[in-house]
Amino acid sequence: MWNMLIVAMCLAFLGCLQAQELQGHVSIILLGATGDLAKKYLWQGLFQLYLDEAGRGHSFSFHGAALTAPRQGQELMAKALESLSCPKDMAPSHCAEHKDQFLQLSQYRQLKTAEDYQALNKDIEAQLQHTGLREAGRIFYFSVPPFAYEDIARNINSSCRPGPGAWLRVVLEKPFGHDHFSARQLATELGTFFQEEEMYRVDHYLGKQAVAQILPFRDQNRKALDGLWNRHHVERVEIIMKETVDAEGRTGFYEEYGVIRDVLQNHLTEVLTLVAMELPHNVSSAEAVLRHKLQVFQALRGLQRGSAIVGQYQSYSEQVRRELQKPDSFHSLTPTFAAVLVHIDNLRWEGVPFILMSGKALDERVGYARILFKNQACCVQSEKHWAAAQSQCLPRQLVFHIGHGDLGSPAVLVSRNLFRPSLPSSWKEMEGPPGLRLFGSPLSDYYAYSPVQERDAHSVLLSHIFHGRKDFFITTENLLASWDFWTPLLESLAHKAPRLYPGGAENGRLLDFEFSSGRLFFSQQQPEQLVPGPGPAPMPSDFQVLRAKYRESPLVSAWSEELISKLANDIEATAVRAVRRFGQFHLALSGGSSPVALFQQLATAHYGFPWAHTHLWLVDERCVPLSDPESNFQGLQAHLLQHVRIPYYNIHPMPVHLQQRLCAEEDQGAQIYAREISALVANSSFDLVLLGMGADGHTASLFPQSPTGLDGEQLVVLTTSPSQPHRRMSLSLPLINRAKKVAVLVMGRMKREITTLVSRVGHEPKKWPISGVLPHSGQLVWYMDYDAFLG
Ligand code: BG6
Repeated sequence: MWNMLIVAMCLAFLGCLQAQELQGHVSIILLGATGDLAKKYLWQGLFQLYLDEAGRGHSFSFHGAALTAPRQGQELMAKALESLSCPKDMAPSHCAEHKDQFLQLSQYRQLKTAEDYQALNKDIEAQLQHTGLREAGRIFYFSVPPFAYEDIARNINSSCRPGPGAWLRVVLEKPFGHDHFSARQLATELGTFFQEEEMYRVDHYLGKQAVAQILPFRDQNRKALDGLWNRHHVERVEIIMKETVDAEGRTGFYEEYGVIRDVLQNHLTEVLTLVAMELPHNVSSAEAVLRHKLQVFQALRGLQRGSAIVGQYQSYSEQVRRELQKPDSFHSLTPTFAAVLVHIDNLRWEGVPFILMSGKALDERVGYARILFKNQACCVQSEKHWAAAQSQCLPRQLVFHIGHGDLGSPAVLVSRNLFRPSLPSSWKEMEGPPGLRLFGSPLSDYYAYSPVQERDAHSVLLSHIFHGRKDFFITTENLLASWDFWTPLLESLAHKAPRLYPGGAENGRLLDFEFSSGRLFFSQQQPEQLVPGPGPAPMPSDFQVLRAKYRESPLVSAWSEELISKLANDIEATAVRAVRRFGQFHLALSGGSSPVALFQQLATAHYGFPWAHTHLWLVDERCVPLSDPESNFQGLQAHLLQHVRIPYYNIHPMPVHLQQRLCAEEDQGAQIYAREISALVANSSFDLVLLGMGADGHTASLFPQSPTGLDGEQLVVLTTSPSQPHRRMSLSLPLINRAKKVAVLVMGRMKREITTLVSRVGHEPKKWPISGVLPHSGQLVWYMDYDAFLG
């Protein structure tokens, strides 16, 4: 009966069988067919897909699936399908007819056991055989929680793959993990069942019309934008999603995620990549778009705790206590509001602030990406003569208005003094309500366009899935790159108490924020918190920088951010003094992860640093080419050198790569470096050497139980590390101890044990090379964060 229906309906739509034979049959299986998302968007999206595509030669069957038993499931699904609507311009009789056809093609089935999946496969095959239709493909839409993914994926892979020549597409909804680790795990798991090209990870913001218009707009207006789309002309970019709703009813989910994971990591980051990416020659090439997007991630500057502010609406904790049955004493730290300052370190965007902000329980619901251009004009005539289309003194901005707000619809706004944009015919010039002001200007100051026909994001994406447009979805690489970027910030905020806000209009100016020198901060002082902070754990702000002794040398201890800032200040002060006295400053720096934050701090917040007179040396290096990501020099280059103005002849990488080989004894790289030091550094005595301490007590590349470089005459040595890459070049202990000042930076919980151990041992460099660090006539200072020092 169903089979006959499919053919009959195809005929009704087409009036010919030929096209249908050409295009083939598509089975769409909606898992979670009676759930919220399905009810709200997916069934409507599938109906739209049917209306759009059935007339173009495909035949369809829709299988709504869930765990619920058939009778009950059927009833629930019928309810979900009740409210399907047709496009406004469709005649009611036509609408009823199509709806009827769609309902007849949509069947409920229980998908619970492996046998259920096998039965589904059998039914599809039988149907194809009966109708004689060629199979084009199958779409499985996972509108289910991620814990159900694995089971479903296994069943699809083992019994529901289509035959040769037909495609399989599985559609996944977020969350795609919780951090980099869990996202990778989930991706690996899915990767065992599906090929990358079979997976469509949905970020519904990519289906929003204004977001989907970013690349085509940039492409169609290349001529006008080419000269403007860069750091010389863009003052800042704001990517904003404000909501009035709160998290009530969803706190189970929200408690685990919070606003950064829920919105910034995905929706806002996707918008950021579309704004910031280099425009491919062909914007419809999915491969090129995805590649260029990935390049944006590679250029993102790492976030620090100071890059973000977080808030939480006041009734949130109470909602969590009620919904999750928590005790009265429970106070959540989950942010429901966040603003983050992002920088992109490439030639196009260096120095341009990208502000990402989202929150629940705010005063309005609105989303947009706003590109504000610099205004470098002075107008001589008085303001009353300024005309919107001509005056360069009025604000100049381009806004991709995602939706809601006073405008109430998606839109693209371009200040009239910028250029007259060109948009596709699916967008029309719009008129807003009279007197409407947006982003500081009357609407009449903009060329304003809105879509001729508004479409829901999910229905747009369903169409892209159907057409295999992978550029509208999140690839595994893209996903992991995004988590890579966000995870360190999330970890650093894990114990931070968010600022409480009352919600809605009452928020007043409480959440307003400002930014400078790479940091973002609330404009107003923290008012008294209405509820106590969480638990007895001390907050960073409860501590001042602590001064004490460690191994009889001065110790500076603080939370990591303050510590880095203190160390950076001390280095700058040492540099300024050295340059004043000797005309130059010789600084030897370690590699690894601890100094990265220091390099970033020096690069972004130390404008008085005498870089022009600073010589940079390496404390140690791995025997890999200098361009290798493992190279210490590469870290220095990425996080410091490319941001400061230091003469290239003052930069002294270690010569690990000579004669097209790495660290060969015969090439005498260590001796060459030693000679360079002797030639340029008076008495081979560095002004400052920055060291780290490994969990095994190593420092520089001087490792326990390896005699090299611990004593003797040699200034620079080749050594062997227990971990890869094994071959290293390092300053020797005698050379380090000649320095005027040595700073040892130790950060993180992982260093807790060695910190305790080394505090008790004497001078035993063979066992713990760090214990051999004691400058002959210079000063040694330890910089330890509380995690390393107090545990
Ligand atoms: C979802 C988030 O991804 O996006 C929600 O989980 C948020 O918390 C929603 O409310 C916002 O989407 P839209 O389409 O209403 O802007």
